[in-house]
Amino acid sequence: MKAMVWHGRRDVRCDAVPDPTLREPTDAIVRITTTAICGSDLHLYEVLEPFMEPGDILGHEPMGIVEEVGADVTHVRAGDRVVVPFNIACGRCFMCDRGLYSQCETTQVREHGCGAALLGYSKLYGQVPGGQAEYLRVPQAHFGLIKVPKGPPDERFIYLADVLPTAWQAVEYAAIPDGGSVAVYGLGPIGQMAARIARYRGARVIGVDIVPERLAMARRHGVETIDANEHDDVPAVIRDMTDGRGTDSVIDAVGMEAHGAPTVKAMQTLTGMLPDSIAQTLFQKAGVDRLTVLLEAIDTVRRGGTISISGVYGGAMDPLPMLKLFDKQIQIRMGQANVKRWVDDIMPLVSGESDPLGVDDLATHHLPLEQGPHGYEIFQRKQDGAIKVLLHP
Ligand SMILES: NC(=O)c1ccc[n+]([C@@H]2O[C@H](COP(=O)([O-])OP(=O)(O)OC[C@H]3O[C@@H](n4cnc5c(N)ncnc54)[C@H](O)[C@@H]3O)[C@@H](O)[C@H]2O)c1
Ligand SMILES: [Zn+2]
Ligand SMILES: [Zn+2]
Repeated sequence: MKAMVWHGRRDVRCDAVPDPTLREPTDAIVRITTTAICGSDLHLYEVLEPFMEPGDILGHEPMGIVEEVGADVTHVRAGDRVVVPFNIACGRCFMCDRGLYSQCETTQVREHGCGAALLGYSKLYGQVPGGQAEYLRVPQAHFGLIKVPKGPPDERFIYLADVLPTAWQAVEYAAIPDGGSVAVYGLGPIGQMAARIARYRGARVIGVDIVPERLAMARRHGVETIDANEHDDVPAVIRDMTDGRGTDSVIDAVGMEAHGAPTVKAMQTLTGMLPDSIAQTLFQKAGVDRLTVLLEAIDTVRRGGTISISGVYGGAMDPLPMLKLFDKQIQIRMGQANVKRWVDDIMPLVSGESDPLGVDDLATHHLPLEQGPHGYEIFQRKQDGAIKVLLHP
């Protein structure tokens, strides 16, 4: 089969690789019809290079048709249409019992001190072959696979794999009071959907980004926007818009590769030039993130407010302004999305006739799998209006 294979920094290719086969009774094989490129894939494309190996198959936002199931997979069968969650969870351990699927104790990657294994997401998360491929072996399929109805286009359901549950959890964790306000930093796919979900629930939403078409998309969905390129002090602009206090809540949908931190960027680049074993140790012991946006979030949120971090961070020694955090009495919640925890809440919003979250207005590019490398390039460089790229094997 064909798959998107990682070869090196900014080097992914559509290669021929062996077809996957069932290995465990809890596995399923899915023929992929749509598979998305995520902002998280961009970290693998560059800064997480030390944890990747040439030959790794990428991708964690797939959906398709079940080909074959193992003996323990009974809730779906061959021919069913399914979405595959990006985290791999057993559904029956201590963490899964608490809805903390991204911490599943059956699949935790203890070797690296990490939570649940993820599809196509580096050695840190189990080095599981990913879903930007014609076929995917889905581990823990007896619990993971989400059955969706036949009929509507893939675009209606594909975001259940990651974008929508991540955005939903971002809004839940942001704890926006009734009729309150939230600032969303980063208007990539995650920020777009977090902003729309917050609007849908009645919040005032202020979105921040630096890419004109992303700001324009957010405005189409009722978001007030700020172009961070036009202001030296974005938090001050937001305070001016909110009686001098700042928003009740802030969502950081940018993460460790925020623009505007040249020194740290140089360090992240340097790590990429070291041999893997040294770079891995350095990253896990002394790595730092580009904290531009998190620091702005701390500055933006009102006293007593909540920050919800869905952007991925990976540093080990990030310096934080503890005085400000403590004095402002700020609460912070974060983490990988516990995908299945939110699916029942979201499903009614994507499966009806109406489209309250506007999922039909997110994908900007539909490409055949062979053009995946081009998809990565335009998504990373934000060229050609790319906001969400969907690949069709
Ligand atoms: N927690 C989870 O489970 C989870 C799941 C999916 C994605 N993520 C993470 O969420 C983040 C966003 O993902 P995405 O798919 O939307 O990716 P993306 O890369 O398209 O979005 C990031 C956005 O941030 C903007 N940005 C960069 N620097 C900025 C700055 N200084 N101020 C304002 N905006 C800035 C970029 O222009 C871009 O639009 C990534 O870090 C990704 O890894 C987390
Ligand atoms: Zn993703
Ligand atoms: Zn579990």
